Amino acid sequence: MTGKRLDAVRRAQAPIVGRDRELACLQECWARARVDAGGASVVVFRGAAGVGKSRLAAAAAEMVERSGAAVLELVGSPLHTGAGLYPVRVLLERRCGIGGTSAPRERLRLLTAEVVARRLDPAKMVPLLAPVLGIGADAGYEPIAAEGRKLYLLIVEAIHGYLLACVGDCAGLVIAEDLHWFDTSTLELLAGLLHASRGRLLVVITDRTDQWPPPGWPAEVFDLNPLTDTDPMTDTDPCRSRDSGRTPRRASRVAATDRFGR
Ligand SMILES: Nc1ncnc2c1ncn2[C@@H]1O[C@H](COP(=O)(O)OP(=O)(O)OP(=O)(O)O)[C@@H](O)[C@H]1O
Ligand SMILES: [Mg+2]
Repeated sequence: MTGKRLDAVRRAQAPIVGRDRELACLQECWARARVDAGGASVVVFRGAAGVGKSRLAAAAAEMVERSGAAVLELVGSPLHTGAGLYPVRVLLERRCGIGGTSAPRERLRLLTAEVVARRLDPAKMVPLLAPVLGIGADAGYEPIAAEGRKLYLLIVEAIHGYLLACVGDCAGLVIAEDLHWFDTSTLELLAGLLHASRGRLLVVITDRTDQWPPPGWPAEVFDLNPLTDTDPMTDTDPCRSRDSGRTPRRASRVAATDRFGR
């Protein structure tokens, strides 16, 4: 699903049915991120195609947008699983207003305007973000004097800086949609972002596999089952109460080793 399709799905959605425990968990994690209280800030929705992972991610986006905070979407694509940082490229293009047919100089102009709008230094950031967008130095910027792993790490650092600048001083939401289609570099970037944000971000992940989160991630994990007739909220099941504060039955808290130091 591309970023554009995700938006279209969000606009077209009927009200959410059931999933009270999942929604309660999102609310709790968002409240925690807003007061910068640390703790688990990753929620993973896992399950088969069509089970309702994206619907929950959209509910998280609606909740955060209502509070006026930023929502950043990294969306995996089945056609680009091997293309390094492809979800980041799509996010950047959307935020810069870059279309598929924009010429390199126009792409560079839009990227520079976006970097300036985020109050970042274009001289430092543009040469690091331009390669992610496939913009070569011949479009009109001074390339960085680094290569290989060193250049890659500088680019990752610049992306972290850009994403955190989009969120600003407040809490924000990062949605990592369809993680099963993420390339290795974007997965690495996501782990690093969590580390860099130290509790200010809520990260919502959707994944068809059960590969995520890796051991040590402080995450709330929901293995979703298809909705049933009994899913609408009832008063008799305390696990359904949004205010119960209980850890969801189907959620496993993965926090054996908190490598993020929180
Ligand atoms: N709890 C829900 N309430 C109302 N509609 C839902 C709910 N869960 C899913 N749906 C609807 O069911 C359809 C499939 O859900 P969704 O796109 O979230 O599945 P998915 O798990 O993300 O699938 P995929 O792995 O293919 O991306 C969508 O039209 C969605 O709006
Ligand atoms: Mg989906």
